[in-house]
Amino acid sequence: MTRQLFVTTALPYANGKFHIGHIMEYIQADIWVRFQRMRGHQVHFVGADDAHGAPIMIAAEKAGKTPQQFVADIAAGRKEYLDGFHISFDNWHSTDGVENHELAQDIYRGLRDNGLIEVRAIEQFFDPEKGMFLPDRFIKGECPKCGAKDQYGDSCESCGAVYSPTELKNPYSALSGATPVLKTSDHYFFRLSDPRCVEFLQNWTTEPGKLQPEVLNKIKEWFTKDEEGQGGLGDWDISRDAPYFGIEIPDAPGKFFYVWLDAPIGYLASLKNWFDKGGPAAKYGDTRSFAEFMASPDIEQYHFIGKDITYFHTLFWPATLHFSGRRTPTNVFVHGFMTVNNGEKMSKSRGTGLDPLKYLSLGMNAEWLRYYIAAKLNSHVEDVDFNRDDFTARVNADLIGKYVNIASRAAGFIAKRFGGRLSADVGVEGRVLLDTLRAHRDTVTGLYEAREFGKVLREIMALADRVNEYVDQNKPWEIAKQAGQDAVLQDVCTVCIEAFRLLTIYLKPVLPALAAQVEAFLQVEPLDFHATERALGAHAIGSYQHLMQRVDPKLLEELFAAPEPEKVIPGGEDIAPEIKIDDFTKVDLRIARIVKAETVDGSTKLLRLTLDAGEGRTRNVFSGIASAYKPEDLEGKLTVMVANLAPRKMKFGVSEGMVLAASHADEKANPGVFVLEPFPGAQPGMRVR
Ligand code: 2FM
Ligand code: ZN
Repeated sequence: MTRQLFVTTALPYANGKFHIGHIMEYIQADIWVRFQRMRGHQVHFVGADDAHGAPIMIAAEKAGKTPQQFVADIAAGRKEYLDGFHISFDNWHSTDGVENHELAQDIYRGLRDNGLIEVRAIEQFFDPEKGMFLPDRFIKGECPKCGAKDQYGDSCESCGAVYSPTELKNPYSALSGATPVLKTSDHYFFRLSDPRCVEFLQNWTTEPGKLQPEVLNKIKEWFTKDEEGQGGLGDWDISRDAPYFGIEIPDAPGKFFYVWLDAPIGYLASLKNWFDKGGPAAKYGDTRSFAEFMASPDIEQYHFIGKDITYFHTLFWPATLHFSGRRTPTNVFVHGFMTVNNGEKMSKSRGTGLDPLKYLSLGMNAEWLRYYIAAKLNSHVEDVDFNRDDFTARVNADLIGKYVNIASRAAGFIAKRFGGRLSADVGVEGRVLLDTLRAHRDTVTGLYEAREFGKVLREIMALADRVNEYVDQNKPWEIAKQAGQDAVLQDVCTVCIEAFRLLTIYLKPVLPALAAQVEAFLQVEPLDFHATERALGAHAIGSYQHLMQRVDPKLLEELFAAPEPEKVIPGGEDIAPEIKIDDFTKVDLRIARIVKAETVDGSTKLLRLTLDAGEGRTRNVFSGIASAYKPEDLEGKLTVMVANLAPRKMKFGVSEGMVLAASHADEKANPGVFVLEPFPGAQPGMRVR
């Protein structure tokens, strides 16, 4: 039976580039998707940028762009990574697309009509310095559950707890550092504490064979109330006040959906966009609409996600779907974080140790990483560590040493001695070996289906070991030297090539580009799992091209080398040539009081300053600081003046000195002029040395 699968990965926030954690998730999902496609199933594998939310709005403002432009610029950079690592999404969209606006508003109306939306006035943190309500992610403090420091206002990266920002201990604004104050505003809540929701979620999460056991354990904690009746499923605040980059809540002026309400709906929006574009029709002849597809009882819906967003996907998301009258996910597959060299966790908010683009730009093979990550993945929520030595060993010793080399050991003889033609049939020993390989097909597919990629690769490498034993026992290079042994040589080499083809089928979900090279070399149609049932027979293969380079450990050194520090030119200009102390003392710097400051008629740049440097008279000095200071800001203040500068006749009068001020060499790009002011206690007339 042809299955129809709708598969997603978590939607990345559109305010940053992909890091290795994203790439790991995409590789995991892509392997599974490619496996399903190779089995002949119909897969719709979609992603999108998670465009909304205050952090993106704030980042866009900082960058001097509209949020739409900001998000579009980030989206434009995605392809390079996805193509580079052979991630085969059918569609990539944005949660700011029109489909998502419509779907989110529809879903909300469904929840409201079900009596599950409640408006409550709540006190919320407000940044008194910035004059705005603070988004959860811009309030930091200590986790109310485990006490971890510097946690965000919505969830704890240390223990996974989800809470509201007002529960944080010792909160502070990440925008200004100010201690936030509480202010009241109306918020819209999804009443998850409603007994209907609790009952539904208890049933949904415990459906046999659904969630991973460790995920279920975590959920049970979240369901549990403590002795004081605290905890358990709380209602979910799904609204945010303007200004907010998001989707407007119907019939609620000035209110927007919290980004986490519309983000997963973006999965549906991307799929809808794919259907509306005619993707499934072109690919599978499926002319149904998005709505018809989603209404078919036999489709399957899977989400690959990281463990930090389990709560959103296993509680909020199924409830949102169910109570708006929609189908719920078939399953949610949770993975751990990626760490590098036993190092720090690759969470979205911390730095990365393995830059995926740098990896590609060094010319490192994307399939080395796919193979390595696959080798370390299983169906559990375990972190995956990237270790350089382990990486080199697995790629060089296993992938190349055991698998790729099989082809290179046999292909030359077939080409040179037999014009590229394989034997029609092979001897008993060879047949037994090939049958053994074929007999493992169900094991291999079963492990792929269960996302046990590490196990599947161990299984395949064990099969490769058997093939290599066969080669070592039959020694084609010796047979080749013996007269009258041509038929034997051709048989042995045919067994090798056929075995290599079978192993390639098994590895293809992990190594799609290599498999394509092998298909070209073997001159065969794209390989799928049915291709194990047939043998090549007396087929002519092409000439062998080198398939894959070994990992050179030097590349890894470069990959992890700290980036060359950029040459910093302080203030935009190089430090001036060295001088002697005598050169310096020639300049007589004095403290001066700004007695008077006035604008200059006919000049937008200059201020006229009357300075008292303790000489019993005042001086008249013109200074190009009008863009930065109002006269009244300066009057009465102390500053530093060059007292022995030759008087200069200017258009507006004579200037008898110069006031010191700091500025960047490129004032256009880095505006700002800053007049120097001495520490308290300095008196007019004191020399500066
Ligand atoms: O955690 C994140 O990076 C979110 N942008 C994931 C959203 S997944 C889905 F809900 F869109
Ligand atoms: Zn915590």
